[in-house]
This record gives sequence, C-alpha cells and structure tokens, in this order.
Amino acid sequence: MYEMAKVLYLEASPRGDSSYSSRVAKEFLKAYQAKNPEDEVEVLSLFDADLPTFSAQGANQKMENIINLVSGGKGLEAEGEWAGVIRESDRLKSADKVVLSSPMWNFSIPYRLKHWIDVVTQPGVTFVVDVVDDAPVYTGLVTDKPLQMILASGSPYEMRFPRETDGTKTDFQRAYLEHAFRFMGFSDMRLIKVQPTGIPGPDLEAAVVSSEAHAREAALMF
Ligand SMILES: Cc1cc2nc3c(=O)[nH]c(=O)nc-3n(C[C@H](O)[C@H](O)[C@H](O)COP(=O)(O)O)c2cc1C
Repeated sequence: MYEMAKVLYLEASPRGDSSYSSRVAKEFLKAYQAKNPEDEVEVLSLFDADLPTFSAQGANQKMENIINLVSGGKGLEAEGEWAGVIRESDRLKSADKVVLSSPMWNFSIPYRLKHWIDVVTQPGVTFVVDVVDDAPVYTGLVTDKPLQMILASGSPYEMRFPRETDGTKTDFQRAYLEHAFRFMGFSDMRLIKVQPTGIPGPDLEAAVVSSEAHAREAALMF
C-alpha cells in the first residue's frame, strides 16, 4: 500500500505573488500534487510564521546541551526556548521531503530563514557531536529526505563556491544553504535557480518560464 508522504515547504520570500522564487515553487508543488494527490504539503511561510524566539536562553541551552550530551547525559528537557527548538525541529524531522524557496538578500539569505536555521540546527536534535581523539566530530541526524531548493537572485551567479575573484557579487546563498543543510544530514539536494530577476523585460519572463518548466520536470522525480 502507498504510504502517504509529508512534504514540508519552507517559503522564505515575503513578497507573496510578486516573488519569483515562490512562483516557481508553486509550479513545482502543483506538478508534485498532481502526481502525488495523497501526499500532504505543509506550508511554512517564514515571514508569517510565529518562529520561536532564540535568544540568550536558547543560546545558553544549546551550549549546555552540547556539554551534557558529550559527557554522556540525555540532553535537556523541552523547557523555555528549548521547547520552541524541539517543536520546530520535530516539524522538520516529521517531513519526508523538504522544499525550500528563497530569495538572495545581500549575497545570502533573508533573516527569517536564518532565524529558522538557527532554531533547528541543534545538538542532540538535528546533529550529534562525538569527541574522537579529543576532537569534535559532527554527524547530521536529518537523513533520507530529499531537499528541493528554488533560489532566486536579482543578478546571475555561477554555480561554484564563492571566490575572492567574484568581487562584490558573490553567492553565499546557495553555498550557505547547501552547507547548512548538509550539516543537518541532508545529502540529496536538488537546485533550481531563478535568475537574473533584477531587470524587467522579456529576458526575465523567459528566465522564469524556463525555471517553471525545470520545476515541473523536477517535481515528477521528487
Ligand atoms: C533586501 C534585498 C537584498 C537583495 N540582495 C541581492 C543581492 O545581494 N544579490 C542579488 O543578485 N539580488 C539581490 N536582491 C534581489 C533579489 O534577490 C531578487 O529580487 C529576487 O527575485 C528575490 O526573490 P523573490 O522574487 O522570490 O522575492 C535583493 C533584494 C532585496 C529585497
């Protein structure tokens, strides 16, 4: 019997219908749902969601938890800001597949997406630390879930790790997201770019339409 899958869709643009990354993600999800009508898609719009506060208490709890776990403890109780950490991390871990659409903001990601990453990237929750020969070794716990990223940027960026020679236009968006999700255990990461979106006109429309076609194809294999 077919097991219903849960897809978590993280939407990181606040621009609603004006957002190119959201527009391509909608096309992806429409094609996905047409192929997998039984599956559930949970939408987490990061600029509307009530993300848990992660401040002094949460930061201290994170570091306490690392020490507790490394010295053989069972980890912290879900209290205070740590309760929010557990809640958001459970949402991520309970998904079978993850879709993320995001703009590039100042060469990287919007602060609400960084907020979400800071909440869910947690020791004993989404990664573990072991001490081997006095050195920490990190292992991601969020495994066996494909991640489809749909990333928009005003300028075009090449698919490579940022280099000094990239000058003032350097892509830390893709590089950072791939790194952050790999750290949590993701290995099957797929990418659709929507770029460049900065200059209105027929070239922009053509770029978006081509990303939408790419999205429909990718959805069938997701
Ligand atoms: C606050 C802000 C910062 C931006 N920074 C960059 C940038 O560093 N590089 C770039 O190419 N485009 C930048 N852009 C343009 C966006 O990446 C572009 O408009 C993209 O389409 C946004 O995604 P969205 O359409 O899904 O909202 C920025 C836009 C905003 C609003």
